[in-house]
Amino acid sequence: MHFGARLACISCGQHYGSDEIIYFCRRCGDLLEVRLEGLDGADSDKLRREWSGRKFTLWRYRELIPLGQNSIVSLNEGGTPLYRVDRLARWVGVKRLYVKFEGANPTGSFKDRGMSVGVSKAVELGKKAVICASTGNTSSSMSAYAAAAGLKAIVLVPSGKIAIGKLFQTILYGAYTIALREGFDKALDTVLTLHDSKDIYILNSVNAWRIEGQKTLAFELFEQMNHEEEYVVSIPVGNCGNIAAAWKGYTELVNLGILDKPPRLFGIQAEGASPFADMIIHGRNTLEPLKQPSTIASAIRIGKPVNWKKALRAVRESEGFAAKVSDNAIVEAQRAIAALEGIGVEPASAASIAGVRKLVNEGKLDKDAVAVCVATGTALKDPNPELVQGLPLIEVDLQKENIVNIIRRVIG
Ligand code: F0G
Repeated sequence: MHFGARLACISCGQHYGSDEIIYFCRRCGDLLEVRLEGLDGADSDKLRREWSGRKFTLWRYRELIPLGQNSIVSLNEGGTPLYRVDRLARWVGVKRLYVKFEGANPTGSFKDRGMSVGVSKAVELGKKAVICASTGNTSSSMSAYAAAAGLKAIVLVPSGKIAIGKLFQTILYGAYTIALREGFDKALDTVLTLHDSKDIYILNSVNAWRIEGQKTLAFELFEQMNHEEEYVVSIPVGNCGNIAAAWKGYTELVNLGILDKPPRLFGIQAEGASPFADMIIHGRNTLEPLKQPSTIASAIRIGKPVNWKKALRAVRESEGFAAKVSDNAIVEAQRAIAALEGIGVEPASAASIAGVRKLVNEGKLDKDAVAVCVATGTALKDPNPELVQGLPLIEVDLQKENIVNIIRRVIG
């Protein structure tokens, strides 16, 4: 089964060929998306049979990822586990809770879905080099996939504001790494000035092919949740790409006739970097950028999310909502999921859990709800001593302390 694809402007509908190297509409300047043709007439039963016979990775859904099969660059991304977490559900205050652990991807975050597709597209287009601005996960992922494809990688990261694990990965995979003192938003502005370059391919999430990879999160959740009962999905929001991608995935399942009612999507931001959540909470239709975003969750320390229009559509069409959570609430949630369930996530990911807890406490989400939190990256990305302050670590002198007594005291 094969679906035709075109790029289309999300505002004026102008179409472009799927092999055009273009990131914004030439007519009105807005964002582009990949549109698949013929979904509504497709034999969706056959499609589901095909999927079920394949390995559980992103490329299981290859019919819905319109790329030539000869250029695929894959490190076995996708197919991440969905954990049912009953102790955490009680802590959060919902009937049932699941965690979709995107930290299990090859470089430890959901970005690998988009990069497998984005770098494959770069190869298909004959590009020799790729570039991105990043708070750390995009750059780690792009560097790895560029290495796997034999392409040059250049990244711009906010100087001093990127988690050490991510900086290490990005450099280790061989990317030429530029640390910019002015922060992420300026780094992205700078990368986007290269949109006309013939030599270098931009792999931030303004690149519509990135979203084609990330939308597979929805396909996997659809299969893993069985769709026997309603659920909501909580997604941490930074540059607004991932929540838009999830919604695109669900919308395609609806268009295929596979799914009747997609879940409500909740976008969660950190209090100090919440231009998107503020727009939703106050019912506005335009985003007011923030000059100095600040949060412990460095992955989502973003003041001017480039994909906000797509994300606004995702939240409104899914009848979802947004929340902003404090750094304290983020750290608390990070500790709770780790200590109650054995799942290590980075702070940005923990925001999705803190967000559901807050929405339930505020009465904006029913206590009887079934929720899925998308844990976008692994804890190992951000080994930050600040985050474990106050947790049980004691230093002892073997000569003076009786270790056996200490252990007896701990286990009670
Ligand atoms: N969670 C993590 C761990 C992230 O790294 C990001 C974004 C997000 C959530 C938010 O996703 O931007 O699609 O809304 N990280 C980007 C980066 C900005 O450069 O790694 P988004």
